[in-house]
Amino acid sequence: MYLDNEDEMILSGEYGETRQKMMEILVALGKVFGAEDLVPISSAQISGASYKTIGEWGLEWLNNLDARVAVPSVLNPIGMPRDNWREIGISKEFAEKQNEVIKAYKKLGIKLECTCTPYYLSNTNYGDHLAWSESSAVSYANSVLGARTNREGGPSALAAAMIGKTPNYGLHLFKNRMPEITIEIEKGEGKHSSHFGAIGYLAGKAAGNKIPFLTNIRPSRDQLKALGAAMAASGAVALYHVKGITPETKLPTFAEEPSEKIIIEQSEIESIFSDITVDAVAVGCPHCSPDELARLSSLLEGKKVNKTFFVFVAKGVKNSNLEYVMKIEKSGAKVVEDTCIVVSPAMDKFDTVMVDSGKAFSYVPNMCGCNVRIGTLEECVDEATS
Ligand code: F3S
Repeated sequence: MYLDNEDEMILSGEYGETRQKMMEILVALGKVFGAEDLVPISSAQISGASYKTIGEWGLEWLNNLDARVAVPSVLNPIGMPRDNWREIGISKEFAEKQNEVIKAYKKLGIKLECTCTPYYLSNTNYGDHLAWSESSAVSYANSVLGARTNREGGPSALAAAMIGKTPNYGLHLFKNRMPEITIEIEKGEGKHSSHFGAIGYLAGKAAGNKIPFLTNIRPSRDQLKALGAAMAASGAVALYHVKGITPETKLPTFAEEPSEKIIIEQSEIESIFSDITVDAVAVGCPHCSPDELARLSSLLEGKKVNKTFFVFVAKGVKNSNLEYVMKIEKSGAKVVEDTCIVVSPAMDKFDTVMVDSGKAFSYVPNMCGCNVRIGTLEECVDEATS
């Protein structure tokens, strides 16, 4: 793999041991995946930020690092809201450990924004190379924004952040971004016919690790976010295309639909919905957009929730939409920043959780040890307020 003079100096340890180790990670990855060189990145998003997922070993590894990031970098959701952890039932022991993790990342120069939707907080442009690690963020960056990132692990995203480059392979190369399987969504009149979390859940299972080309749908940006997050969770989809909607489908190269084709029928979409009783509701997976907060505030207006209702969001988005946050919280729901359904231990105590997200529907049973029900945002509000 080609390295320029400075890269070689970093690799030989002239910029310190931490940078040397980080360069070794990038070179090893590049060799495994056949990268010809490193490509400069605009930003990094680093997973492995919740103490629930990285534990003591991860914390010790972070504490031994001694360098700062070279590009704007943020974290994936952590295990609790930094300021209000008591409000969601986090133990003092967990909070202390989580704060140590945060302190370790802060020392590395990482911005303490802990979110899977970093694209709401800074500009990410078509063609930008990135090193992002959370699967829904990766999917959104590649598919909706037309930026380019592989799905990085926590250490490789951190290595890229410190060097300011990443190995140039996989989805960084245009030739690897072609659609491989057509997935047509049957049109229907069913009440869940446009639930893009459910469609994504089924499409991800059908696509596996192929790049899907979805047809017969016209999702909005928020719906694309839900669709991609679910496909990344039930399958291994880091890039998808929606005919006539996502930016790369407007290029002549994408004119042909892949010949391998699957149809998702309306009856399949309806079949994943149920009406089992739940003891908590959680929305905001991926973290809510300003529009989603606005919609939720109007759905909850004049109502009171009668069970735990969490709304997950990036702190920066929460702080710039306090009017909606106040309206939502007037109902008794809690708008929670920095953390999420899956990486926080707060959800583990419930028997059954209702979500509006195909990704949460995939992950909650294993990651939180509870049953899960999926519904629309309206159904989630009805369930919590009736
Ligand atoms: Fe984000 Fe957590 Fe869902 S990281 S996509 S809110 S599982």
